[in-house]
Amino acid sequence: MRNRQKSGETPIYLPSPSQKGSMWLEEAIAGRRSVRDFTPEPISQLQLSQILWSAQGITDTSWKYRAVPSAGATYPLEIFVVCGTNGVEAIDGGIYGYNIDSHSLTLLHKGDVRSELARAALGQEFIYEAPVDIVICAVYSRTLARYGSRGERYVHMEVGHAGQNIYLQATALGLATVAIGAFNDEQVREVLRLDKQCKPLYIMPVGRPKLV
Ligand SMILES: Cc1cc2nc3c(=O)[nH]c(=O)nc-3n(C[C@H](O)[C@H](O)[C@H](O)COP(=O)(O)O)c2cc1C
Repeated sequence: MRNRQKSGETPIYLPSPSQKGSMWLEEAIAGRRSVRDFTPEPISQLQLSQILWSAQGITDTSWKYRAVPSAGATYPLEIFVVCGTNGVEAIDGGIYGYNIDSHSLTLLHKGDVRSELARAALGQEFIYEAPVDIVICAVYSRTLARYGSRGERYVHMEVGHAGQNIYLQATALGLATVAIGAFNDEQVREVLRLDKQCKPLYIMPVGRPKLV
């Protein structure tokens, strides 16, 4: 994306994601719940790595296929990470772009914008309380160029696949999330300083669930 090329920041290479976990898939499906109460504890870089890999990571190095299916492998999704101050170990507060090919992050804008993001999402305060928010956006033209107007529904199906993977991966790591669709598109775009062609579809706060 244009944003990312402009930044000139050195990428932060994330630890390699593990492909073996300590929870069965069935347990993660059964245990998945939308959580809106998080502790402020930072998540580790390995946990963030796992979450991003589950959403869009490359799982076939020859063809560059990813962890979620994509209509015609047109890959319309872009992932941004809104990191709170002390949200992720050894990563400063800021807005980061996820570089899928190199499994790395590029700092796009310094500073913790979680409260602005929460305001853009009808004041859903858990966006501010979670240590990190994953924002899934789409560049529709990538898919519409191949499929015409039908491509729009394909993009929406694809964000659902990515969101579900984040839910299940978070559960398997002892973390939690909630898929947020209620927000003002333009305000989210302003907070993240997104390109016009990049539309936000989901905000997913991620953190350790507060036990009640
Ligand atoms: C498309 C979509 C949009 C959603 N938007 C929000 C939202 O803006 N805020 C919120 O708190 N939960 C949101 N949710 C989460 C649902 O409220 C939640 O999935 C539902 O209550 C069922 O609970 P469960 O996910 O724990 O099974 C959304 C879920 C979906 C699928």
